[in-house]
Amino acid sequence: MKSALHIVSSARGSQSYSRGLSAAIVKKLKDRNEIGAVVERDLTGEFPPFLDQALIGEFYKHPETVGEEGKRLLKYSNAIFNEISNADVIVISTPMHNLGMSAPLKAWMDQLVRFGLTYVYDSDGMRSGRLQNKKVYLAIASGGQLSQWPDGYEFIESYVKAVFSAYVGITDVCTFRVEGTAGNNFTADYEDIIQSL
Ligand SMILES: Cc1cc2nc3c(=O)[nH]c(=O)nc-3n(C[C@H](O)[C@H](O)[C@H](O)COP(=O)(O)O)c2cc1C
Repeated sequence: MKSALHIVSSARGSQSYSRGLSAAIVKKLKDRNEIGAVVERDLTGEFPPFLDQALIGEFYKHPETVGEEGKRLLKYSNAIFNEISNADVIVISTPMHNLGMSAPLKAWMDQLVRFGLTYVYDSDGMRSGRLQNKKVYLAIASGGQLSQWPDGYEFIESYVKAVFSAYVGITDVCTFRVEGTAGNNFTADYEDIIQSL
């Protein structure tokens, strides 16, 4: 049975539509026995640390030269790398905040992507991601509708796809959106949104 990682990044708890949508995706996959064990990481319970100078220094050290202080600084990054390595399916939810993903999700991605760990270069200088054959479901909640913005204003799905493809090795990203949540008397029909799943 495949295992899953569920990343939640809205601080609105049970009121969050993105969390509701990603939970519906997880439930559907579980009900169909496509996934078994699910590890959930709520990025708003323990915020990912921002990258500072010391951590960036550790990111680029050879693993054998990392000392005790480095191990402490790399603890969060190593933990989330292990979580994603152990998962076949990754379900990620995010609110749209100022056209982008939530700040905790961006910080999680910055902690995840690491030279030598999530991506390497071959002798010809070609970069490749090391975590291949995984599937990502991306659940995005927005107060408005994407179709109301000019072309080129989609920054969340395109960014996740680009980073996962270039620096992680995951090319299979399937996006679902719950839109218009700021509307009067809005109610979310998650089953309808994910009917193609
Ligand atoms: C700080 C902030 C910025 C937001 N920016 C946008 C935006 O740029 N476009 C949009 O459609 N909705 C925007 N919204 C509305 C949220 O996307 C909406 O409330 C959504 O349901 C949040 O996801 P959640 O329910 O999972 O928390 C914003 C909300 C907040 C609090």
